[in-house]
Amino acid sequence: MKHTLPSISFIHLLLFVHLPISYTQENANFMQCFDPFPCGNVQNLVFPFWREGSSPEFCQAQGFGLTKCEEDDPPLISIGGHEFRLVSVNQSGYSMTIARGDLWETICPPPPISNITLGYPFLGFSPTNRNFTFFYGCDSSVAPPRGGGPMTECTQWSNSFYADDIDDGSSYQQFRQLCRGGAIQVQINQSNFEQLRREAENLGSVRWRLGFDVVYDLPDVFCGKLWVPRFEHHS
Ligand SMILES: *[C@@H]1O[C@H](CO)[C@@H](O)[C@H](O)[C@H]1NC(C)=O
Ligand SMILES: *[C@@H]1O[C@H](CO)[C@@H](O)[C@H](O)[C@H]1NC(C)=O
Ligand SMILES: *[C@@H]1O[C@H](CO)[C@@H](O)[C@H](O)[C@H]1NC(C)=O
Ligand SMILES: *[C@@H]1O[C@H](CO)[C@@H](O)[C@H](O)[C@H]1NC(C)=O
Repeated sequence: MKHTLPSISFIHLLLFVHLPISYTQENANFMQCFDPFPCGNVQNLVFPFWREGSSPEFCQAQGFGLTKCEEDDPPLISIGGHEFRLVSVNQSGYSMTIARGDLWETICPPPPISNITLGYPFLGFSPTNRNFTFFYGCDSSVAPPRGGGPMTECTQWSNSFYADDIDDGSSYQQFRQLCRGGAIQVQINQSNFEQLRREAENLGSVRWRLGFDVVYDLPDVFCGKLWVPRFEHHS
């Protein structure tokens, strides 16, 4: 639990420097949000994470609600109305690794497919993530570009493939037009990317239970969660 200490002293700093004396009681309650709890296969979760149905209202920071804790499975977390798997958390680094819920069981989800956004100003994709594009149901004349490969798991579409970082807009558009199942952009983090590179021959068929990293700005989470509403009540 050593890793939770920087957060707690950070909060003390916020509370004692910025909040009036009369909030001391609320602060004591708020410290409950730092009692570590497990969810699924992730241990020692503390604020801003909270569990739906059991965490007190004052711990409920938007974007960090865990909706399902099943033994041995990564928790489900709801972010901006989308479900993700919470693969791991680095509380001292204010970052978490999450994976798209709709791509967890299969990389070929039933339509409608969609790109995701994180939807909160205090959440950002880590710059170390790698971007892939998945193309579904492409014309049989289309072959995956260099650095990509077939997604043989996609049985509902005859020719689907992934490509690594197609940022040359013209080839992207070319592929996009020849793939009637559509295309989505998917991020994965650095260590997953390296693992995929090593196991390239399996890339199209293995389950892509792969996460990407998201950084969160704890002061901004606080501003949204605590300061603004509490000060509004006071006036
Ligand atoms: C957590 O993040 C910090 C800061 O980015 C980093 O120094 C540390 O190595 C990370 N810990 C783990 C377990 O990845
Ligand atoms: C996802 O984003 C890419 C790039 O912006 C776009 O070409 C594609 O059509 C989007 N996919 C969906 C399903 O909206
Ligand atoms: C990956 O995509 C995200 C969001 O579309 C973008 O912000 C980021 O710069 C891209 N990363 C790389 C390495 O291209
Ligand atoms: C990437 O994701 C894996 C889990 O899939 C996690 O162990 C790792 O800490 C994440 N971060 C980086 C930078 O690799």
